[in-house]
Amino acid sequence: MADFEKQKMNAAVKAAEYVRSGMLVGLGTGSTSYYLIKEIGRRVREEGLKIRAVCTSRKTEDLARENGIEILQNTDDQIDLTIDGADQVGMYGTLIKGGGGALLREKIVAYNSKEMYVIVDSRKIESTHFGSFPLPVEIVPFMHLRTVQNLRKICEQTDIRRTENGEIFVTDNGNYIADMRMGKINDPLDLEESLKNIPGVVEVGLFNGIAKRIFEGTDDGCNIYRITDHGIEREEVYFDH
Ligand code: 5RP
Repeated sequence: MADFEKQKMNAAVKAAEYVRSGMLVGLGTGSTSYYLIKEIGRRVREEGLKIRAVCTSRKTEDLARENGIEILQNTDDQIDLTIDGADQVGMYGTLIKGGGGALLREKIVAYNSKEMYVIVDSRKIESTHFGSFPLPVEIVPFMHLRTVQNLRKICEQTDIRRTENGEIFVTDNGNYIADMRMGKINDPLDLEESLKNIPGVVEVGLFNGIAKRIFEGTDDGCNIYRITDHGIEREEVYFDH
């Protein structure tokens, strides 16, 4: 049986090799990014790696701090490399992000990076059913009931995200998330534009043309794909042994 935790770790550890001293690094959010931050922290402690980091969520910031990574809250500088997880990766390297609710900061950080690498386990690359993961959309609380009605004109199956206790989930930015169960997304660029035209929508969890490489962890290594104009092309395959 596939070991998804091992796959996440393998993807994260391989991607972390691309982090070099002197870099300003964007750190992602989620259970795969957890392994990335642990590995970068290990390299800071054991190898004297010297980096500064911008974090995509408060949770990541806490973890990075615990792991001895220097954190910047704001900067004029462009980020050298951002490494982050994803909920789904489509054929042309388009991502669905925001399953953990951090999509706004994740997009700001990725957009302001020279390169963005994505770390995923083998369940995330989806060639035929891109959009089967519900698309997160961050919206402001003001008049959110109307905003949801407007989103439902595009996808009927849209609901405000709630916590396990039934309370509305609030993002690090004080906003709400609407999850759109599209089933399938055929034109992500057009969809992103249509959603962003709705007042109240802050950001959409579709990352079009942003990722440069995908690290897909396997049970015993990692596949690395480069995103090109023709789609996802396999670049390298690594094995543990
Ligand atoms: C958080 C995200 C995460 O990157 C995404 O949800 C993947 O998380 P995980 O690595 O836990 O599967 O977009 O907003």
